[in-house]
Amino acid sequence: MYVSNANKILQLFLLLLPIAVPKGSHSMWLLATYIKGQMPFPEFSYVAMLDDVRIMYYNGETKTLHPRGNTTAEDDVFDSNVLLRISDYIYTHFMERLEVAKQNLNETDRYLVLQRLVMCELKDNGEPGQMITRDAVRGSTTDELSYDDNKFTYQGHLNVPAPVLNFHLEISKSRHEILYRPYCIKTLKGYMERRKNQVHRKVKPKVRLIQSYGGFHVSCLATGFYPRHINLTLFRDGQPVADHEITGGDLLPNGDGTYQMRKSLEISAVKHIYTCSATHLSLDNKLDVTLEFDHGEPFKSVIPSVLTVLALDVVWSCMLV
Ligand SMILES: *[C@@H]1O[C@H](CO)[C@@H](O)[C@H](O)[C@H]1NC(C)=O
Ligand SMILES: *[C@@H]1O[C@H](CO)[C@@H](O)[C@H](O)[C@H]1NC(C)=O
Ligand SMILES: *[C@@H]1O[C@H](CO)[C@@H](O)[C@H](O)[C@H]1NC(C)=O
Repeated sequence: MYVSNANKILQLFLLLLPIAVPKGSHSMWLLATYIKGQMPFPEFSYVAMLDDVRIMYYNGETKTLHPRGNTTAEDDVFDSNVLLRISDYIYTHFMERLEVAKQNLNETDRYLVLQRLVMCELKDNGEPGQMITRDAVRGSTTDELSYDDNKFTYQGHLNVPAPVLNFHLEISKSRHEILYRPYCIKTLKGYMERRKNQVHRKVKPKVRLIQSYGGFHVSCLATGFYPRHINLTLFRDGQPVADHEITGGDLLPNGDGTYQMRKSLEISAVKHIYTCSATHLSLDNKLDVTLEFDHGEPFKSVIPSVLTVLALDVVWSCMLV
């Protein structure tokens, strides 16, 4: 019970993650969560990330910071007193939001999840990019403040009187200007220096074509790659397959910090040649895997003219047959 609820909460947590950060730029993230209800972990906590690498965990119960990874060499990268002050601000923010959210609570709500995501970006020319603060209730975004080129933009639908909202916005704006962004950028630069090998690493995808779901689907799976940007395209007889025929395509994290993506396509009784093509930062050329399929027994047919497999291991996965 606990586990499944915890998983649900984590799913909500993930909903907030994909903010598009332009390729080449780097970002620092703070993902804070407040959970009202019985949970096996603290009501208030956050994780801090450099790009998609976890660097810190904050436990709101003990009010302690727990650096992750290469910690010994990083003590001087962040000012913990400032971070603890920011932590208090976020907690106060959650308490205020809780008051607003309580008005919309009903008896059946056993959990209430409030989240705040703060992200600042460092462009590849070394200049600060945009900063975003996004709030969510139950996994849905309620409002967002963005700060870019010294311009603030606020978007939201909060059920609070305008003077109250404006008062809070003014405080929030000046904190972004004076505290959040300078601190975030400084810390981001510090971590970039210490973790450059980790965030600049390039890991090649393993690409496979798999016949699945009883032989009625062909899936293209790319896994184990880093960074996360990848282009995965399915071709049928040399033509790109239309998007509406394709299912999947979500980027999913692997446990080891790499990513995977799968795209699937329903196949007919007619034999076609399917090609899965991947382009990724780690590859000089595109990586193609080509096989011939109909929806019966898969058989392998290598077409040398189309095949540019680079040290590739094609695995038949018919476990579902
Ligand atoms: C209470 O919440 C549930 C689930 O969010 C919703 O389906 C239901 O309509 C709500 N009831 C009232 C009285 O608002
Ligand atoms: C930890 O940081 C030090 C100093 O920056 C560096 O020399 C070392 O290689 C790092 N270790 C790991 C495992 O990243
Ligand atoms: C994906 O394709 C787009 C458009 O062709 C290209 O701009 C981008 O660099 C590609 N990304 C990767 C990781 O190959």
